Amino acid sequence: MIDERILVAAGRVVTCDPARASEADPLGVLEDGAVLVAGGLIAAVGPRAELAARAPDARLVAAADAVITPGLVDAHTHAPWMGSRDGEYALRMAGADYEAIARAGGGIVASMRAVRAATVEGIARALRARAARMAALGVTTIECKSGYGLDEASERKQLEAIAEASTDPLAPRLVPTYLALHALPPEARPDGATPAARSAYARIVAERWLPAIAAAGLARFVDAYVDREAFSVDDARLVLGRARALGLGVRLHVGQFADVGGADLAAELGAASADHLEHVGPEGARALAAAGTRAVLLPVASLTLRQEPPPVATLRIAGVRLVVASDANPGTAPTESLPLALALAVSSYGLTVAEALLGATREAAASLGLATATGVLAPGLEADLVVWDLPHENALVQPWGTSRARLVLRGGRALACGSGSSVP
Ligand code: NIG
Ligand code: FE
Repeated sequence: MIDERILVAAGRVVTCDPARASEADPLGVLEDGAVLVAGGLIAAVGPRAELAARAPDARLVAAADAVITPGLVDAHTHAPWMGSRDGEYALRMAGADYEAIARAGGGIVASMRAVRAATVEGIARALRARAARMAALGVTTIECKSGYGLDEASERKQLEAIAEASTDPLAPRLVPTYLALHALPPEARPDGATPAARSAYARIVAERWLPAIAAAGLARFVDAYVDREAFSVDDARLVLGRARALGLGVRLHVGQFADVGGADLAAELGAASADHLEHVGPEGARALAAAGTRAVLLPVASLTLRQEPPPVATLRIAGVRLVVASDANPGTAPTESLPLALALAVSSYGLTVAEALLGATREAAASLGLATATGVLAPGLEADLVVWDLPHENALVQPWGTSRARLVLRGGRALACGSGSSVP
């Protein structure tokens, strides 16, 4: 019942609230704390005894040996994908090269064929199922990119499927991102993926497709894949500059395989995020910090591609705020699990648990323009929270591959989770 008042209490309440945080306690943890939920919003956060006295009529959901965190925010996913690339995955695991497979007409273009063959309803159904599985892992907000349509109608179809799947209040909140600049479709490269062919495609996206998407209100962000075998800085500037002029936010895939100046472009455009960044230098990092552009780290992708981690120390020293996301996609990130990405961010990238957790809550929400809605446990925000069947927040990055989310609320309502999660 959305009108009912609920007092959710646990041994540790990890608020992620900067107003409660300190150098010694970056997560702003309350011991024996509680969150009072009313009308779908957080009414109060504080000591359990104090809130229980203040709201004696509230339904109590208490677990002394549990941890409460904000609902997790997955700020980079390709969740509306279709089909399977299991054959290609097997080849890659046996040593085949990701960029070479793409050059030969596989990779992103293989997923494109599956999306083009699907209906809006079919994509929405697949997305809903995926989002429900992500909710069972503690995720209450999912950024969803298009990018597997690669023609006007099919890119739009993916965004319409996101809009369709967004209507369910008992599912994670979905944030739509337009990623037409993900790969060059076959019909746009009769003579191969030349720079001229890429620029011509970028012009069509900027001048024709994007304005219609913006007018229909189908996207909140626009993304572009900038890399040595993807789009150039100039191609991306054309599309993302138009996105800014149309009032949309900007995010970029940059430096996944090579530093071709993508971080500088992200800073120049005042992008909300620059994602991947396995290849970025100190100057690019400083530019991101100065622009307030967050770095979205995607450890599942770099692990799958057997890459070195991004230069986390360089980003930290520059003062770039860090986000961690799943990158859920059928090519580089064969997972739907943000908790797995957090575990890898700590074990492979050397993030502290606090950095990783903030990167999947407060910093992720801020990168999606949702800082006043979610990502922090503080009065006035949406009651998006997770009760974890774990004794301490440090245990959130263990055990790998198992969901320990006991209760997942979005806007005060228990999300329809998979069978692994029991909702009291
Ligand atoms: O974030 N490299 C670009 N985009 C995706 C992969 C997409 C795919 O292979 O389907 C990424 O890694
Ligand atoms: Fe991606």
